[in-house]
Amino acid sequence: MKICVLPGDGIGPEIVGQAVRVLEALRSDGLKLEMETALLGGCAVDQAGEPYPEATRRLAREADAVLLGAVGGPQYDTLPREKRPERGLLGIRKDLGLFANLRPAMLYPELANASSLKPEIVAGLDILIVRELTGDIYFGEPRGIETRDGQRVGINTMIYSEAEIRRIACVAFGAARKRSRRLCSVDKMNVLECTQLWRDVVTDVARDYPDVELSHMLVDNAAMQLVRNPKQFDVMVTGNMFGDILSDEASMLTGSIGMLPSASLDDKGKGLYEPIHGSAPDIAGKGVANPLATILSAAMMLRYTFSQETAAARIEGAVKKVLGQGYRTADIYEAGTKKVGTKEMGDAVIAAL
Ligand code: IPM
Ligand code: MG
Repeated sequence: MKICVLPGDGIGPEIVGQAVRVLEALRSDGLKLEMETALLGGCAVDQAGEPYPEATRRLAREADAVLLGAVGGPQYDTLPREKRPERGLLGIRKDLGLFANLRPAMLYPELANASSLKPEIVAGLDILIVRELTGDIYFGEPRGIETRDGQRVGINTMIYSEAEIRRIACVAFGAARKRSRRLCSVDKMNVLECTQLWRDVVTDVARDYPDVELSHMLVDNAAMQLVRNPKQFDVMVTGNMFGDILSDEASMLTGSIGMLPSASLDDKGKGLYEPIHGSAPDIAGKGVANPLATILSAAMMLRYTFSQETAAARIEGAVKKVLGQGYRTADIYEAGTKKVGTKEMGDAVIAAL
């Protein structure tokens, strides 16, 4: 099992460091893992002149899975767009064909008070957002800033092909089948033709999954329903941009964006695994970041790419256990719990394994 490790920027190296320690602990119990580290994002721009260097590309293509921290930082915001860290992330997603982004949002009972919503609204929350990751307005052409009639205009293109919609819909229906068999597809078909096609194709794919109950929702309503009554959802499927926004929103229901892992998969089982949060430059290097989303991403990697269900469940069980023991990083801390830093949280998870 070959893993390409990309710590990235900001808190990335700290949180990935803990996830790697957890994987090493499992390796010493017999899991055959090989890990090699490379550069992605701002650190890659600094050291290799571009956000997704050739050496990283080679390693990532050869590996079975990629474990990523986060990329980006304010010092890179003024670089030309093709040199920005985010371009590295979008580049690796596209290069590896990682079109299916799975973002589970579940509330640990221990963290019910960390949510900004009332406990009765979020208790037991467990939803899965399936976000298309290699198409949509993120990659559509034409794009750019140009001059028309003497003033600048900014242009992006929202575009989806039938095939792109079909394959992500299949992933979402498949995921729904393994859960409570309810799928909500999110679009903006009242305004955008692109998403009219989305709705039509998803409806068509539904015929192959008669056992899954499909519903459709407009994205503005979905954003509202997520904070009004989030437990009505089981699996949600949507395009790249709506999925970006809704998954951040969903993460807050669970108390902290620092808790949520993600998997980005191709059509053959290869995956990139990363926390859904960013590089948090404001707390980078302080040893206080929450490593749990990255540790849980490593668990998703063991499950989805390596079919190591037992090892994955061991990590998830250990995370539950440390929360039960009262360990909290600053983002999920409340009075009466034990505040710990990044490394102590890693120690606690390893001890709980
Ligand atoms: C995410 C992030 C990225 C995205 C950024 C960093 C490019 O917000 O993974 O959700 O927009 O996809
Ligand atoms: Mg995002």
